[in-house]
Amino acid sequence: MLVWSERFETKIELVDTQHQRLCALLNKLCACFDSGVPSEETVAEALQELLEYSQQHFTDEEEMMKNHNLDSHYIAIHHMEHNSFIYDLSRLQLHISADEDEVQTAEKLVRFITSWLVYHILGVDQLMAAQIRDIEEGMTPEQAYEANQTISRDVGTTQLILNAVLDLWRGTAEHCRVLEEKLCSLNQGADSR
Ligand SMILES: [Fe+2]
Repeated sequence: MLVWSERFETKIELVDTQHQRLCALLNKLCACFDSGVPSEETVAEALQELLEYSQQHFTDEEEMMKNHNLDSHYIAIHHMEHNSFIYDLSRLQLHISADEDEVQTAEKLVRFITSWLVYHILGVDQLMAAQIRDIEEGMTPEQAYEANQTISRDVGTTQLILNAVLDLWRGTAEHCRVLEEKLCSLNQGADSR
């Protein structure tokens, strides 16, 4: 469950409205698990809605960055983050029907989306908003990019980003461990033949 707060605001109306909708769709997905194990269809539907809306939102953000002439290096980095989210979410979507432990998979899924949204909205999206503001106030795209390599954040926001990154890292480490175990059992099977 992700509770929307002022610290997520970019002060760009379209972006904030879409982020709040993403937050609502994530919470809708969480609600599927409130009363035990939901049907596979219910989860698949909520996830598909979130995935489609994310794609639309990313397209809108990328168009906005191009229209404001943001530095191309920055746009490339931002675009890469969007793509990796869509890739990871699609991969997890496949696991929903393949995994035996649905609750465990759902927990992983909800944690991944929550942490990613916190990390992304408080990270690159805030840098995007800061560059757009600076360009509107007269800076060149290069100056705006240089001026916003880092932005100062309060302790609470920094802690939220840190927790989100740690959570994403833990998810990746867990995934590697599972892959390693599968590889070991495959090798053992091949050795015993
Ligand atoms: Fe973004």
